Amino acid sequence: MTATTATTATNAQPLESELLEHYRWFHRHPEPSYEEFATTARLRGILESHGIEILDSGLKTGLVAVVRGALPGPVVAIRGDIDGLPITENTGLPYASENEGLMHGCGHDFNMTVAVGAAILLQERRDTLHGTVKVILQPAEEGKATKERPTGAVQVLDTGVLDDVQAFFGTHDWPGETGAISIREGGLTGAVDKFQATIHGSGSHAAEPQHGVDPITVLGAVLQGLQAVTARNLDPVNPRVLSVTHVEAGSTWNVIPSTAFLEGTVRTTEPADREAAKDRAVAIIERTAEAYGATAEVSWFFGSPSVVNDPAWSRFGRRVAGDEGIAVTEDRPQLGGEDFSYYLQRVPGLFVHVGAGDAGASHTPTFRPDPAAIWPGVRFLAALAARATEEWDTVSPEISHEISPETAKRA
Ligand code: NI
Repeated sequence: MTATTATTATNAQPLESELLEHYRWFHRHPEPSYEEFATTARLRGILESHGIEILDSGLKTGLVAVVRGALPGPVVAIRGDIDGLPITENTGLPYASENEGLMHGCGHDFNMTVAVGAAILLQERRDTLHGTVKVILQPAEEGKATKERPTGAVQVLDTGVLDDVQAFFGTHDWPGETGAISIREGGLTGAVDKFQATIHGSGSHAAEPQHGVDPITVLGAVLQGLQAVTARNLDPVNPRVLSVTHVEAGSTWNVIPSTAFLEGTVRTTEPADREAAKDRAVAIIERTAEAYGATAEVSWFFGSPSVVNDPAWSRFGRRVAGDEGIAVTEDRPQLGGEDFSYYLQRVPGLFVHVGAGDAGASHTPTFRPDPAAIWPGVRFLAALAARATEEWDTVSPEISHEISPETAKRA
């Protein structure tokens, strides 16, 4: 026991510097979603150099590794995503992107370094580790998913190598106090749902509207009515927003067209709100059209669900961070999407933000997370996984096993 601790202590400094080097390499070599080939090869090399086993998942990009503890315990998983964004970097960093038009603008270089670092720490401590920790280095978190080419989390889940996982843990860098861990119980990110509607009226001369059914008038009423969904039909304490982002109708000034089109998105954090928003929005569009003598065709697409953190795992995460001497802050919900939600639809877990200093806005050319936050992120994620497996029997009864209904159509 003493020997293990001593080894870990002497190794901490070299590992921290090694990870910083990896981070800079990842930052210099961002790749697009679904095409993270060089990144995957690099990750494979790093893990293998530390004796970490890589599972045969069949993934084209990304990988799943495994650290097998010497002591009995459950299987849990940690995840870092690995894809870049089509952004031209403008940070002036000495290790700025060398791949033109591509940038780690969401900080997935940071996230994968944290997951790799945690994997190495766990591997070094496997003599005292309970259970098994699977390490997901996930591709295509940012990509435009289709039925044929689902989002990265779904691709990894579909391989079957995570079927035995009993808890999922993930981190993401975020502007905030450097190295602090932000945790929010419940809904953290938005369910990303899209709707489209075509209103069918009947065209006429602009000066003789009585001979037709004007779809533009219907469209105006629908636009007003839809805002009542988020304002009147959903619990006001839950974050949510409905935005109509594209409307189209008509082609000239003196003809009333026969159809009008609208599309937009609804973001919610609570599964019940997600269902209610769809029901109410569809009713408003269809029945408003009907009231004006028109008809409406509505299509609804459920995208990635909301990341919903289990309350017991959230409390556990706070305790682990505290015991590690890492600052903990309350996380703020935000309505962007995050496909980590698909893992949490399988089994409960925890997704936290790692404060990366005054990083600026993510998804912009100047996003600049502070690499000093990587090491606290590594220590937190490794401790979370190790203690979750060790203290499983105490924590497990508190975990809420009611998973939200799988409303996602995985498109
Ligand atoms: Ni991201």
